[in-house]
Amino acid sequence: MITISKLSYSFGRQLALKDISFSMKQGEFVFLCGPSGAGKTTLMRILHGALPVQRGKVDVAGYDLNTLTESRKHLLRRDVSVVFQDFKILPNQTVFANVGLPLVVRGIARHIIDKRVRAVLRSLHLDQKAGVPCEELSGGEQQRVAVARAVVVKPKLLLADEPTGNLDRELSLRMMDIFQQFHRFGTSIMIATHNQEIMERMAEARIVTLEDGVMHEGKKNGDQQ
Ligand SMILES: Nc1ncnc2c1ncn2[C@@H]1O[C@H](COP(=O)(O)OP(=O)(O)O)[C@@H](O)[C@H]1O
Ligand SMILES: [Mg+2]
Repeated sequence: MITISKLSYSFGRQLALKDISFSMKQGEFVFLCGPSGAGKTTLMRILHGALPVQRGKVDVAGYDLNTLTESRKHLLRRDVSVVFQDFKILPNQTVFANVGLPLVVRGIARHIIDKRVRAVLRSLHLDQKAGVPCEELSGGEQQRVAVARAVVVKPKLLLADEPTGNLDRELSLRMMDIFQQFHRFGTSIMIATHNQEIMERMAEARIVTLEDGVMHEGKKNGDQQ
C-alpha cells in the first residue's frame, strides 16, 4: 500500500524528514507517533500528493509519486483519503453537503449519495446535525465531519492526522471504533497521534515513531510498556 525509500524533505533549510524508509502492506493499521514538529504532517502531505517528493522514492496505492503528474493526482485521491489536522471542511455548508461532496464530485447518483452519507453520519453520531452549517459545530463535531467525509468514499488507504486531537476521551474511543470498523472492511489505515490510550487499545496496530524527522519502528524511547 505504501513503499517509501530514502525519503527526505526540507522546507528551505529546515529538514523535516530525514532519509525515511518504510513500507505498509494492504490491510495494515499503523500509528504514526512522535512529538510535535517531528514531521508527521509533512509525511502525510507527501503521501497524499500535496507536497512533492524532493528526494527518495514513494509509491502509494499503486501510484508512483515520483512520476505522478498534477493532472493525475485526482486518481490517487480516489483511493487515498485524508483527515487533515485542521479539518479543511467548508464552514458555511451543511454537514450533509460537506460529507456528500466527494461523492458528488465522483458523479455518484443522488439516492446512493443520500444513503451512504446518512449511514456514515449515523455511525459517527452526527445524524442529528445533517442540516446544520459546519461553522455552528463544536471542534469535536467538525472533526467527526472531516472523518465522515474521508470514509464515505470507501478509500483503500485512510490517512488521519491527529483525528482525536479535539475530542474528549469518550469521543476519541468512539472515533477509534469507527476506524476499526473501516479497517475490518479492508481499508488500510495510518493515524498520526499522541494519544497513548488509543494506541494501547488497538493491540493489532503497528506503531512507528518519527522523531526530529527520523523514523523508527516501535514507540519512542521513554514511553511506558
Ligand atoms: N510550511 C512549512 N514551512 C516551513 N517549515 C515547516 C512547514 N511545515 C512544517 N514545517 C516544519 O517541519 C517540521 C515538521 O513539521 P510537521 O510535519 O508539521 O510536524 P508534526 O506534524 O509532527 O507536528 C517542523 O520543524 C516544522 O516547523
Ligand atoms: Mg502535525
